[in-house]
Amino acid sequence: MIKLALFASAVLVAPVSSGAAPTYNQDIAPILNSQCALCHRPGEVAPFSLLTYQDAAKRAAMIAAVTKAHIMPPWKAEAGYGTFQHERRLTPEQIALIDAWAKAGAPEGNPKDKPAAPGFTEGWAGGEPSLVLKTGSGFNVPAQGNDRFRCFVLPLNLDKDTYIQTVEFRPGNRSVVHHGVIYVDETGAARRRAANSPDGSYPCFGGPGVAATGLIAGWAPGSITTPGDPQDSTPVKKGTDLVLQIHYHPSGKPETDISSVGVTFSNPPPTHGKTSVIMVNTSIDIAPGDSAYVSKSSLTLPRDVEISAIFPHAHWLCKDMKVDAFLPSGEITHLIWIKDWDFNWQGAYHYDKPVALPKGTRIDMTYTFDNSDKNIRNPSSPPARVQFGEQTTDEMAVAFFTAILPTPEDVAPFQRDMRLAMLDSLLASGDMSALSRLPGMNGRGRQVMQMFDKNGDGKLDEDERAALMNFLRMMMR
Ligand code: HEC
Repeated sequence: MIKLALFASAVLVAPVSSGAAPTYNQDIAPILNSQCALCHRPGEVAPFSLLTYQDAAKRAAMIAAVTKAHIMPPWKAEAGYGTFQHERRLTPEQIALIDAWAKAGAPEGNPKDKPAAPGFTEGWAGGEPSLVLKTGSGFNVPAQGNDRFRCFVLPLNLDKDTYIQTVEFRPGNRSVVHHGVIYVDETGAARRRAANSPDGSYPCFGGPGVAATGLIAGWAPGSITTPGDPQDSTPVKKGTDLVLQIHYHPSGKPETDISSVGVTFSNPPPTHGKTSVIMVNTSIDIAPGDSAYVSKSSLTLPRDVEISAIFPHAHWLCKDMKVDAFLPSGEITHLIWIKDWDFNWQGAYHYDKPVALPKGTRIDMTYTFDNSDKNIRNPSSPPARVQFGEQTTDEMAVAFFTAILPTPEDVAPFQRDMRLAMLDSLLASGDMSALSRLPGMNGRGRQVMQMFDKNGDGKLDEDERAALMNFLRMMMR
């Protein structure tokens, strides 16, 4: 009976099968080639290949189960909450076809229906780079033990300010490289931190461990780099270093990795401005055992902006991440929703079309954490109090945005206004030390805070905060 019902639905959605069960050659191979082979082929991240009939047929039931449960292909962003490039999602029809095929005993079908083997770019997907930077002489990953997180400082050695069109990460040893994130450091802080190491690197977990200027690229298995639009290149100052953080996962035998970063500079300068914006809640404080701690923060955009990508970030305890934009018109634009956050599958999500957010838009970031012993990813056993920080046992609630502005000249004033908007958001969430961290405060943060804390209760309520922000805006003109 069940078989018949499924059969009927498969026929309904795929009339080409004209009554026969779906076959590998005609129906299934095209799906596996386009949606699975990216990772399920020799030398890639997945544990087995799915390129041939034999590969697929012996796992037919498992393939049907993981596709039905939406575990494969891995794609964390919920449908309907942002439309992204290279979305990895099967249609209900494709899932039904796979199911019907597995239930029919995984028939191979007619060899003449078999599609051509999928092709993959083996070189740089984003085009031949102007500069290739490598991570030293080989980083050793032992056979067993904890995952390693390493930051490699990659000096650009620029003799003048310039623009970067594309940054592409290429893992060296794919059996151990789990993901890579590339930050931009204009301050030299990362370089100083790596000064005593032979290969210009240092251990780091959550982020680069220094106040990096921004995030320029993220790579996880299956990520696809596109050449980028020269009109949207990122300005970088002379003296800037890239900081590449790699997450290594031991493979069972000792391995060595040399990964590369390809950088393509653009010339002439872009017409648009581009910068990365970070939204963060530093006031996280999760009691041990709390299985549904909610971190909520808001930020109001000081200028019109277009968002081309979002990179949500937290550590092991986070379960659910939601970022929504409330436009002044009353309209709500969902920026992303990840219902089952997994630190191992973090990455950048590029919008299909840039999302326009006018001045006055409020962005709400709502992240939920599970600090109970039921959370199998909890790094502490028994659970311990968890606060904001960079270590494995700390937590984060962060969203990086790639912002596109009308012209390159808009970047500096936008960054200045955003620093204040972010400060306002941090003060609102209770982080009073944020004021002292504002560049130019020179240790007077406490004094300024007391000046505006009219009722002397040690925090800034809404009116007091508004007065402080007006004052700072005036000062920074
Ligand atoms: C972005 C990379 C990627 C893509 C795309 C992908 N997989 Fe996987 N797959 C993995 C990895 C990695 C694993 C190993 C388990 C893990 O780490 O989550 C895996 C595991 C599996 C498993 C074993 C699950 C288990 O419980 O052992 C099956 C079956 C599977 N994939 C099927 C598929 C199918 C079918 C598709 C396409 C519809 C697909 N995968 C697409 C990366 C991918």
